[in-house]
Amino acid sequence: MILKMRFIKYYLICILATILLSCSEQKVLKQSSEIDDGSNWERYGRTWQENHFSPLSIINDKNIDRLGLAWYYDLPVATSSGVAAPLAVDGTLFFATGHSVIHAMNAETGELIWKYDPEVYKVIGEELRGAWGVRGIAYSDGKVFTGTADGRLIAIDAGKGKLVWSSKTNKRNDGRYITGPPYVIGDKIIIGHGGADFRPVRGYVTAYKIDTGEMVWRFFTVPGNPQEGFENEAMEKAARTWNGEWWKYGGGGTVWHAMAYDRDLGRVYIGTGNGAPWNQKIRSPGGGDNLYLCSIIALDIDTGEYIWHYQINPGETWDYNAAMDIELAEVEIDGILRKVILHAPKNGFFYVIDRTNGKLISAEPFAHVNWAERIDIKTGRPIEDPQARYPNNTAFLLSPDSTGAHGVAAMSYNPNTGLVYLPVRNSWGAVTDPQEIEDWKYSEHYYLDNGMGQAPANLIPPASSGWLSAWDPISQKEVWRANMVGARNGGTMTTAGNLVVQGQATGELSIYEADRGKKIWSFDTQNGINAQPITYKVNGKQYITQLTGWQEFMYSGQGPQWNYRTQKRRVLTFVLDGDKTLPIFESATLPITDIPKFKIDENLATQGQELYHRSCVACHGPNLLADGAAPDLLRSRTTESLDSLVKILHQGTLLERGMPPYPELSIREIEGLQHFIRKSIRTELAKEVSSIK
Ligand code: HEC
Repeated sequence: MILKMRFIKYYLICILATILLSCSEQKVLKQSSEIDDGSNWERYGRTWQENHFSPLSIINDKNIDRLGLAWYYDLPVATSSGVAAPLAVDGTLFFATGHSVIHAMNAETGELIWKYDPEVYKVIGEELRGAWGVRGIAYSDGKVFTGTADGRLIAIDAGKGKLVWSSKTNKRNDGRYITGPPYVIGDKIIIGHGGADFRPVRGYVTAYKIDTGEMVWRFFTVPGNPQEGFENEAMEKAARTWNGEWWKYGGGGTVWHAMAYDRDLGRVYIGTGNGAPWNQKIRSPGGGDNLYLCSIIALDIDTGEYIWHYQINPGETWDYNAAMDIELAEVEIDGILRKVILHAPKNGFFYVIDRTNGKLISAEPFAHVNWAERIDIKTGRPIEDPQARYPNNTAFLLSPDSTGAHGVAAMSYNPNTGLVYLPVRNSWGAVTDPQEIEDWKYSEHYYLDNGMGQAPANLIPPASSGWLSAWDPISQKEVWRANMVGARNGGTMTTAGNLVVQGQATGELSIYEADRGKKIWSFDTQNGINAQPITYKVNGKQYITQLTGWQEFMYSGQGPQWNYRTQKRRVLTFVLDGDKTLPIFESATLPITDIPKFKIDENLATQGQELYHRSCVACHGPNLLADGAAPDLLRSRTTESLDSLVKILHQGTLLERGMPPYPELSIREIEGLQHFIRKSIRTELAKEVSSIK
């Protein structure tokens, strides 16, 4: 009876609604955005499955020779520009550069509509030393969302470019920063943070109401101090897998990049990061699984309650994590259609996980791996090489290294070919304990503080290499491969036009046949590519957009070295029969200049070297050649005078441009940095002279 009355009521409302024109228009609008014809790229991975797949096939493997440049837009020099994936909604492109500067652009013409700068440099604390610019944004309901390095989550009106709301997700100077994309989960938006490589940080994710920015729930990923009580049963359980006084070290487990909203099951999957510090012997002496580090956790979207978890690296101790793409698919395995998560984390194994219950279905290595022999399917646990945990003051040449066999460059999944397109790299790095591990402490300030020691000189890692792998997640085998120059290349996108699109470190934007891997198109963008491309449709035409900009902190010696100052950061958009060309690009290298009368004090230089490797290396690079993330200090003239170096470090004269101040350094320490840099310049020039001879 009640049901029937409700039905009649509903019916009446519907009739009323159709009479009221505005109402019915709204309804139509709502419906049109719900029908997915591939016109929009509304989320980081386009849809809630986060597959970086588009059903569009206007551009396809048959007509690809007609693909050309429609327009390009030069981006100003700013820290970390051009690494974020854009979004496209109803003919407008939205993207972020540098520290979350949001741009709205006419997707057909490249005309800038508005720009919103959250002025991160005005409010950020020492976290600027760790945060590297935002990698992705979100869209819903007429609003664009971004996290900021100082820990805000903000909503901007998509039409006007004005702030709608701003919610602080952390406390000032608590070590947390945001660089990952927010994810829309129904009527809420969820965001994590980073910081566990630097400070004693305890990871969490927080959900906010999309309309108002009001916080709805928060889920911590690792347990806090038991004496303060546990937030929930999941934390109580997790605490049993930790030893010592882990909470004093923060614990880590930050959700700094990937999540996915399971619209089918009303859940969100979060990917947790490494331990803080990396070295488990410090944060949890005696071992333990250290839940929920390095795990995928399923949470209820309405309450944030724990549903299940799968831990990919129990007792993580290498900076491995589960922060890489979490992509959702339905695949047939042994004749049964299963809802799965596809996941290729740093540790080099490709995981297929049942998303209804978190059980491992299969896991096989997609790159060179030496820390584990295999993953046991029954227990879901790796069969590790015990030496990989660098016990008793030993050192181990770990593969993959802490940068991972797969990084933040997106993989994509094409349901038509059934293949995952994965930017892979082989890498090695030495791991060992620090000296006097018992006395290890975090510094008072924001430095790379991971509890690891200096690698012994005799452990020389082989050169890293990279390729694009077309991976069959069912047979867990590579189907085809395209080799790349260098180990770090851009993220991928795939389409129903049988295409895989990927930018490379060399600046080449390449398109392959998705099924067979034949390269069928390429374009010289004149700059290294970190971001993944997107595709969308406006007025019947399909476009492909790629942001360029190279932001790595260490030059590998392979391919071009993109200079921070001279590289051309751009937005490039392609269309069938596009006929624009780029102006000629002359790559300019700044000279390395010595000051012969500068007397190097060896002691000071040694002290400076140590400080440099703790505080400057993350942006300026181990060899003082940054490869795009910051100026090459080998080529900088600012270190010719101590005064100018003091101004930059003490007064923060370059703060607005992304160079953090270091007011805690003494003049003597800064002198040390200067002597180390001048010495490195002299050594480099001597090398060049001897190679000419
Ligand atoms: C978070 C990244 C980051 C860290 C960490 C960092 N820098 Fe920088 N630095 C930058 C960026 C970006 C610039 C370029 C700013 C600009 O556009 O002028 C810069 C510029 C500089 C310059 C001026 C170079 C030139 O030729 O204009 C010097 C000198 C410098 N940094 C030294 C240091 C030292 C010394 C440290 C460690 C104590 C350090 N930086 C740590 C990002 C960083």
